[in-house]
Amino acid sequence: MAQRTPRKIVAGNWKMHGSSAMLSAYVEALGSLELADNVSLVLFPPVAFLDCCRRLLAGQPLEGRLELGAQDLHPEREGAFTGEISGPMIRDLGGSWVLVGHSERRQYQGESDELVARKAEAALTAGLKPVVCVGETEAERDAGAAEEVVSRQVAAVTARLDDRALAGIVVAYEPVWAIGTGRTASAEQAQATHAVIREQLRRACDAEIPLLYGGSVKSGNAAGLFAQPDIDGALVGGASLDAQEFAAIVAAADVDTTR
Ligand code: PGA
Repeated sequence: MAQRTPRKIVAGNWKMHGSSAMLSAYVEALGSLELADNVSLVLFPPVAFLDCCRRLLAGQPLEGRLELGAQDLHPEREGAFTGEISGPMIRDLGGSWVLVGHSERRQYQGESDELVARKAEAALTAGLKPVVCVGETEAERDAGAAEEVVSRQVAAVTARLDDRALAGIVVAYEPVWAIGTGRTASAEQAQATHAVIREQLRRACDAEIPLLYGGSVKSGNAAGLFAQPDIDGALVGGASLDAQEFAAIVAAADVDTTR
């Protein structure tokens, strides 16, 4: 049986916020961050700022420790897809991670489970680590279908990727009703769904796949979430825009992981 991952991953998703000036102030503010060895830090700024972020980090204490990623990618390497960006392009800009299937893309761009799985595969092919986002809407939870929806979303990815490929992904559980609403799933609620996803992933892959929680994570609730046995980190939206707040969440991730 594979060992549990001892590492925590704290990732910031800026969504469509920010500017190069804001990024510059942010990198400076984060510069003094004490980062424990067992914590990985990833930032997903708008892709337009990836290269700028890489340059700002050069020679700074966080260079090599703050990894960068894009918020989406196109499943093809290149082609006549105006306005899109591919995995190899993200690599070229300094990204090593990418979000796929964020609920805002599923909702506003109508991304299907199948497309999300193709994007995860394309990310791996390009040498990027995909964070596959899954999560139920409020209506689905109220209808008692939360587990079914999340299982279906996860299954689309496990069906497409073989064991070796699956070992390279990260999954983020983000209940849609908790995103940007200030309404976090309680640590117990999140843990309960994480345990279900964990079992499903274990049936599909021998390696332990890191499982992040997302949805109104902030400094005040992060420690409680990180203390759960099946929560390996957080995908932070709104609270990641504030360097101090994000740093406090990162500090909360440095918990005893010998569990
Ligand atoms: P939030 O967003 O932290 O603002 O709720 C999380 C996300 O959408 O990744």
